[in-house]
Amino acid sequence: MRFRTRAIHVGQEPDPTTGAVVPPIHVASTFVQPGPGQWGQYDYSRSGNPTRKALETTLASLEEGTGALAFSTGMAAIHAVVMLLQTGDHILAGTDIYGGTYRLLHKIAPRAGLEVSLVDTTQVDRVRQALRPNTRLLWLESPGNPLLSITDIAACAQLAHQHQVLVAVDNTLATPVLTRPLTLGADVVVHSATKYLGGHSDLLGGALVVRDPELWQRLYFIQNATGAVLGPWESFLCSRALKTLELRVLAQCQTAAQVAQFLHQHPKVRKVYYPGLPDHPGHHLAARQMQGGFGAMVSFEVHGDLEAAKRVLGGLKLFRLAVSLGAVESLVEQPATMSHASYDPQDRLAHGIRDELIRLSIGLEDPQDLIEDLDQALSRA
Ligand SMILES: Cc1ncc(COP(=O)(O)O)c(C=O)c1O
Repeated sequence: MRFRTRAIHVGQEPDPTTGAVVPPIHVASTFVQPGPGQWGQYDYSRSGNPTRKALETTLASLEEGTGALAFSTGMAAIHAVVMLLQTGDHILAGTDIYGGTYRLLHKIAPRAGLEVSLVDTTQVDRVRQALRPNTRLLWLESPGNPLLSITDIAACAQLAHQHQVLVAVDNTLATPVLTRPLTLGADVVVHSATKYLGGHSDLLGGALVVRDPELWQRLYFIQNATGAVLGPWESFLCSRALKTLELRVLAQCQTAAQVAQFLHQHPKVRKVYYPGLPDHPGHHLAARQMQGGFGAMVSFEVHGDLEAAKRVLGGLKLFRLAVSLGAVESLVEQPATMSHASYDPQDRLAHGIRDELIRLSIGLEDPQDLIEDLDQALSRA
């Protein structure tokens, strides 16, 4: 079955007892056991829940993995991967990563004696040089956040595996519609399901998908031992949203390409970051690594200072000023003070996240309405 068919049918079989086409939401926290010390398929919802399992089955199929785990948030999923490591291990992560991941790696992981360093993962040679004898985890995001840099996942995975380093890819921005990192050699795919997977700004969730059943067991042990599972209601909402994932993402990518093109030729705009533009340094790699589109996030800088950027942000009417991304409604934000405020300011600048940077999450509105909104707001810059 092809992607869109799997998104609707895998894990979402009709209810065997009633024939209901949509499986029921299982809200039970606990399940009757056949006898003392005897276990059925489910016993306690932290350890396993049918509605969560249905979502995990769909996600594993869409990412071409063998197993998935659904978490209460994306950060909980990321934390579970970090908990695979031990004191003295080193994590190497990209510079263009989500601010919350940066915070977890820099402010929480060192408390457990983990070493962390960042490297520009778009340059495989730099990744090679940055590996240490104790590196155990390589953390990649492609497209990166918020600069939409493109990392060669296959090349990084090959390099990492030569050094017995586990490769995790945060696939939140690309979604499995555009990129399937497990097929490129990654060991773990990570999602904030809060974004495109959920798609409607109405749930918080996270997910991990892996190929290796033994790695799934280790992550399952961590999830069950620490408890940050996705609830049944959110699991249902996410399963429902996955049915339209491909349609949404492809349409959002098309609109994003039009918006990027519009911004690119606008006299008030200094720079546009969008992998679909031929002058983006990762354009050719993105064309090879991403199928069906270049993503639906567009970042840009206006001419002038922070005040000019703030005037544009204040002038937008349709784009909502809010963090998060990937939903049907378009959002705008200023990474330096919002999504990436948890970066140390000098690190933020060193990694190219200027105060004037504006990040757009393109939704499902009519492209022309979005372009007209940007046009009138840019006239204030
Ligand atoms: C790329 C990326 N990864 C992870 C996260 C964290 O996910 P959550 O907010 O669901 O914890 C986010 C949230 O913005 C994100 O954008």
